[in-house]
Parts: sequence; structure tokens; C-alpha cells
Amino acid sequence: MVLELHEKLEKLRKERNAVILVHNYCPGEVQDVADYLGDSLGLSRIAAETEADVIVFCGVHFMAEIASILSPGKTVLMPDINAGCPMANMVTPRQLAEFKKLHPGAAVVTYVNSSAVIKALSDICCTSANAVEVVKTIPEEREIIFVPDRNLGSYAAKITGREMILWNGFCPTHERVLPEHVRQIRTVHPDAPFFAHPECRPEVVAMADKVGSTTGIINFCRESLAKEIIVGTEIGLLHRLHKENPGKEFFPASPILDCPNMKLSSLEKLVWCLEDLAPVVRVEPELAALAREPIKKMLEVAGG
Ligand code: 13P
Ligand code: SF4
Repeated sequence: MVLELHEKLEKLRKERNAVILVHNYCPGEVQDVADYLGDSLGLSRIAAETEADVIVFCGVHFMAEIASILSPGKTVLMPDINAGCPMANMVTPRQLAEFKKLHPGAAVVTYVNSSAVIKALSDICCTSANAVEVVKTIPEEREIIFVPDRNLGSYAAKITGREMILWNGFCPTHERVLPEHVRQIRTVHPDAPFFAHPECRPEVVAMADKVGSTTGIINFCRESLAKEIIVGTEIGLLHRLHKENPGKEFFPASPILDCPNMKLSSLEKLVWCLEDLAPVVRVEPELAALAREPIKKMLEVAGG
């Protein structure tokens, strides 16, 4: 059955001239067939540059939207259209438009974990890999509204020393990690370094030896001499970490660090979507033109 699925996938990948982009949190069986496996920033760059006719985005909806915005001529597919990001729904265009009126002149820095309509209302986007660099591009005298992740915003504010107005959004998955979880796992693995994603609560981020995007964490783990490492991000990353680092052991900072949306892709759904060329994610041209500007500005910023 699995062999049959792999054969079908390879045939369809060629026939459709498709590129399969997979986020680091997806199920192992999907990670293993990726053309590119990476973080939000890396995958956005690939989506902007690919020559494939079809982009299959295994991840969540805002990522496929970015691919459609950056590559409007391509067919963008998702294996499961229901894979959303709850954080992206924590800010509505009406709320943001009203908030901007209260802070005229403020720059809106928007985490890519947001809808296209929110991006269209923003000055510049960022990912967890480049939030610090992006914030540094805003002139000192300009007020900053950071949307929607209060935790990433608070991390970027701390590193840059900039005061920012933080939207009250968060990732329900990373929010579950508590300082007591980290203390508990450290008692079992006292020599293990702790590498955390900046979507974690500030009090958890403060306990980390290093903080980075999923690709950042992969690099820290590769470079570390430690044999045991505590990982403060979604547990899907552990598949790749174990595969790329034989001889090292990885432990999630909390056993409940899973994102149900990232688990909606599967090998079977991937084959079906290439067979049917559906479901398609397409951002309307007018909206795409507005949302493209802040994303492009971000891609011009070094970092990540
Ligand atoms: P990164 O891979 O960009 O760090 O993304 C984290 C995330 O939560 C994506 O939804
Ligand atoms: Fe959204 Fe969090 Fe899931 Fe990432 S891990 S897709 S931020 S809910």
C-alpha cells in the first residue's frame, strides 16, 4: 500500500511538474518525500523562485497563501485545505484597521502566520527566523505594532531593545509549554541544552540556551556536541532531528507540544491532491498585489 502510494507520487510529481514543499512540523511520511523541507522563511523563498508548474504546500493555509501570492501563475495545492493556523485567526482586518487609526504613523510588522488580508494592511512581514532583523529596519523614531504573536513580538523587542505594541495573539501549541515542564525535563536530563522556538512564552524563552526558528533549532542541534537535547517546539521537528543526528537523543520540552493542523497532511492526501489538482489555494490578484509588498520587503532583509 505504502509502496504503491510512493510509486503513484513519483509518477504524478513528474507528470504535473510539481514541487513538494513541506514544513518541518509535518508528519514524518510527508517530510520524507519533500523536494524541500524547511521553515516558513526558507519555503517562502523556494515558492518565489521555483520553476515548477504546481506547488504542493504541506503545512498550513497561510503558507500556501504566501506561495500563491509570490507565484501567482502557478497552481498551489494543499493536501488538506482544513489545515489552518489558529494564531492567524486571532486578528481580523477590521480590528487591525481600527487599531492602526489609534496609532497613526506606526509601522505594522506582521508575522507571516497571518492571513493575506492582514498582510495587505502591513508595512513589512517577518518570520521567526528574521523578526529581529526586520524590526531593526524600522526607524528608531517610528512606533511599531507587532501582529499577531505577542511571544515572538516580545522576543524581538527584548533582543532589539525596541518598545513595541504587541497584538495579543499566540500559538496555542507553543503556549502549552510551561516553565515547570522545562524544569521537570531538566531534572531527568541535567546536561541537555534547551533550544526553544520564540513562539514559546517569554518565561520559557528566558530559560533557553538558544532561541531560533525551526531551521535555527535544527542548526543548533547539528552543531551541538551534546548527546541529549531538549527541544522547545512542535514535536514534528523530532522526526528530522533524529534522522539527521544519529547518536543524539532529542526530548520534547513538553509531551503535549503538538499542532493538530500540521498533522493533517498525509502521504495519501498528497497523492490525491496531485491526482485531482485540488484543493487549490488562490489569493485574488488585487489582494495578492497588496499582500506581496510586505512579504517582498521581508525577503529583501537579510537574516534567517
Ligand atoms: P518556522 O518554521 O518558521 O519557525 O515556523 C513555526 C511555525 O509555527 C509555523 O507555523
Ligand atoms: Fe500555527 Fe502554532 Fe500550528 Fe505553527 S504550530 S501552525 S503557529 S498553531
